[in-house]
Amino acid sequence: MKNMLEVKDLTTKYITRFHEDVYAVDHVSFCVKEGKSVGIAGESGCGKSTLALSLMGYYFPPLHYTSGEIIIDGKNISGMSPDEVRLHILGTEIAYIPQAAMNALNPTQRIIRFIEDVIRAHQPKASKKDIYDLARKRFEILNLPADVLQRHAVELSGGMKQRTVIAISTILSPKVLIADEPSSALDVSSQKMVIKMIRDLMEMGYIKSMIFITHELPLLYNVTDDIMVMYAGQLVESGSAKQMVFDPVHPYSKGLMDSIIVPEEGARDIKLAAIPGTPPNLKNPPMGCRFAERCKYMTPLCKAYAVKMTDFGDVDENGSHQGLNRSYRCLLPVHELKASYESEAKGGAAI
Ligand SMILES: Nc1ncnc2c1ncn2[C@@H]1O[C@H](COP(=O)(O)OP(=O)(O)OP(=O)(O)O)[C@@H](O)[C@H]1O
Ligand SMILES: [Mg+2]
Repeated sequence: MKNMLEVKDLTTKYITRFHEDVYAVDHVSFCVKEGKSVGIAGESGCGKSTLALSLMGYYFPPLHYTSGEIIIDGKNISGMSPDEVRLHILGTEIAYIPQAAMNALNPTQRIIRFIEDVIRAHQPKASKKDIYDLARKRFEILNLPADVLQRHAVELSGGMKQRTVIAISTILSPKVLIADEPSSALDVSSQKMVIKMIRDLMEMGYIKSMIFITHELPLLYNVTDDIMVMYAGQLVESGSAKQMVFDPVHPYSKGLMDSIIVPEEGARDIKLAAIPGTPPNLKNPPMGCRFAERCKYMTPLCKAYAVKMTDFGDVDENGSHQGLNRSYRCLLPVHELKASYESEAKGGAAI
């Protein structure tokens, strides 16, 4: 299966007005295969949205590219100028549905105008009729009534607005779609509809691969093939959705899993035990493990050495490495961590 997106050692930072650097994406590497979806989970401020922005190769202050490569369907976009990215990459190669997209639609503009803007950015000579025909067909596939095209954003319900945003963002059939918490503002049934819609678009081949960002690790189980957990600007664990939800290894992923239970139909999620403490300040991240301060398994070595992502070759039940490698970023051996979790689950003390 070919790689739709390959990210190699990507590092980006914000340079603030006071010239303080915020290291929000630190040496991130992963890939997404054609037809596959990858979820990114992690607490607020850990760099999920910054990673999403960085992946598009479209940098404007205060966000700056530092190093690394982004390769979309074999094309390296890392060295491209903002104009090149805007004209040749955004919308067609990679599209991003920002976190607050629903509320960002200009209320005075008809929906068809947004679609015209997206299409004309790539095909300046596209006729009004061609644009309307394409939009109508795509809306029909997505079960959105064609008359939505003539309406204003304020006339749409929350769920419909969200689906409209997805339709607009994917009108040029991007190879990679990044959806940044598209469902957190919606009720459970609208969330499910949004997720199903994105999956349908993938199955119909209008999107070739997807990255789905959320706070909630368990939500990703039904949504994505693979999951990565991010903490303080770094990836700390990756694997198949099943492995990550049912068998997390890194103490942070384990904490994320234990702090949230999957919401029942119609019910809000219930926080059980939040992970104590807060993430480090990314202006001055610790040199050792970034999670050490909050980790109950911390040893003196953890603060002394930077920890690398390590593959531990735990293949999924199909015995394959079709998706993300099973990797974690921790000095403690996998079997030791798992033994601790097991003994805690039985009510014993941590080793
Ligand atoms: N424009 C900016 N200038 C400086 N620092 C920023 C800027 N935007 C974000 N940051 C910082 O970058 C870090 C990562 O933020 P980011 O928004 O990517 O996190 P996130 O994981 O998407 O959080 P959330 O779950 O709340 O959306 C945070 O420390 C944040 O304070
Ligand atoms: Mg965010």
